[in-house]
Amino acid sequence: MMTSEQGCYVYIVPPGATEFVTAGRFEVSRTRDGDPVGRFFYGRRYLERSDAVELDPVELRLRRGPYETARMQGFFGAIRDAMPDYWGRCVIERHTGHTQLEEFDCLMYGPDDRAGALGFGSDVQPLPTRHRFNQTIDLERLQAAADKIINDEPNTEDSATRQAEELMLVGTSMGGARPKTVVELEQNLWIAKFSRHDDRWNHPRIEHGLLKLAQKCGISVAENEITNVGGRDVLLVRRFDRERTEVGYQRHRIVSALTLLQSDDSPTSRRDWSYILFADELRRVSRMPEADLRELFARMCFNAAVSNLDDHPRNHAILAKGRDWQLSPAFDLTPTPMIALERRDLAMACGDRGRFANQRNLLSQHGRFLLNEEEASAILNKIVETVRNSWRPAMKESGVSERDCKKIETAFLYKGFFYPE
Ligand SMILES: Nc1ncnc2c1ncn2[C@@H]1O[C@H](COP(=O)(O)OP(=O)(O)OP(=O)(O)O)[C@@H](O)[C@H]1O
Ligand SMILES: [Mg+2]
Repeated sequence: MMTSEQGCYVYIVPPGATEFVTAGRFEVSRTRDGDPVGRFFYGRRYLERSDAVELDPVELRLRRGPYETARMQGFFGAIRDAMPDYWGRCVIERHTGHTQLEEFDCLMYGPDDRAGALGFGSDVQPLPTRHRFNQTIDLERLQAAADKIINDEPNTEDSATRQAEELMLVGTSMGGARPKTVVELEQNLWIAKFSRHDDRWNHPRIEHGLLKLAQKCGISVAENEITNVGGRDVLLVRRFDRERTEVGYQRHRIVSALTLLQSDDSPTSRRDWSYILFADELRRVSRMPEADLRELFARMCFNAAVSNLDDHPRNHAILAKGRDWQLSPAFDLTPTPMIALERRDLAMACGDRGRFANQRNLLSQHGRFLLNEEEASAILNKIVETVRNSWRPAMKESGVSERDCKKIETAFLYKGFFYPE
């Protein structure tokens, strides 16, 4: 027996469109034991549309349903991917003054500019989408508002600060832990990633440099640039889930690798985090499996070569610009300089020896990426060479200081990477 407790309508912007239509209904109820169960079903009218598309290609395929899940407090992966994460929750908690927000409140809170093509609301008909966004001219105030949130400074009464904090709410639904917001620039939407005062190095520039290095390695990355506001650097990453048209923004669906793996952040689920299982899923859902698997393999090797050890499955995504899915451009690349020289682990398993960031291990499951041994070695060797020759030039081009290069140098091609076993 269940009692219905909370529910909302789920909207989606169909491929090519710029306005929401109602796709279905999502509810979370509790069993008699008090355990949450999520339910989703597609609306009959939505299913009759010729442009109807699935919310995700694993859990919520295009059938009426109802679908049910007892995982993640009843939240399906595709819905969780459209919700705020650590940073967004900090902003919302500050704004509402509630520190114990429920999952459902987080889902429904804030303006609608979340990642991907989904929207949520309590009316059966969606509201028209908004066309006003923060502009880069607001960035300095937004950076100041982000600092206040990080430092947990009390809200001040002056209206300029209050206004900036209101603006900060835009973009809260984007995931991730670092301070960020969304701004419009040159008729595109960008994620502005700020620095923190307690950062050990210039994060925006180093992320910019690492994205550049990845590109030099042949990896496709989200378009990005550095801007400076009030003497502080900010990384702007162009949103690949939005595309400007004459009448508004198209919204492309995105789903994280965490959802594709049908996994979550709990310690027990972490055991399922794996590039190899991700490759299996990608092979099944991608419109161009061979190219995507080669690309995924390259990203895995790159992450090991530069000690990007925060390569968790929410830092990988698939994207549907139309009906079909493909691997999204790479984003959120950061080096993790470590003292350990013998063994470093990626966040996801990458071979027979688990998460070990080691070249033998990386090559051990080449077949799962649809690569023969020679092809896999060639990709890996090219990445190793490029990282060796170009990491400093890439950082320099990005304006990373000599001091910061020194701080991160141990991230690149550490000793254990080359161990034969
Ligand atoms: N260029 C982009 N276009 C669309 N969505 C993006 C883009 N870059 C990132 N995202 C989405 O925003 C989320 C947060 O971005 P990102 O991972 O860069 O932030 P972060 O705070 O550094 O993350 P983390 O908590 O992993 O350190 C990602 O998980 C992804 O869903
Ligand atoms: Mg991230």
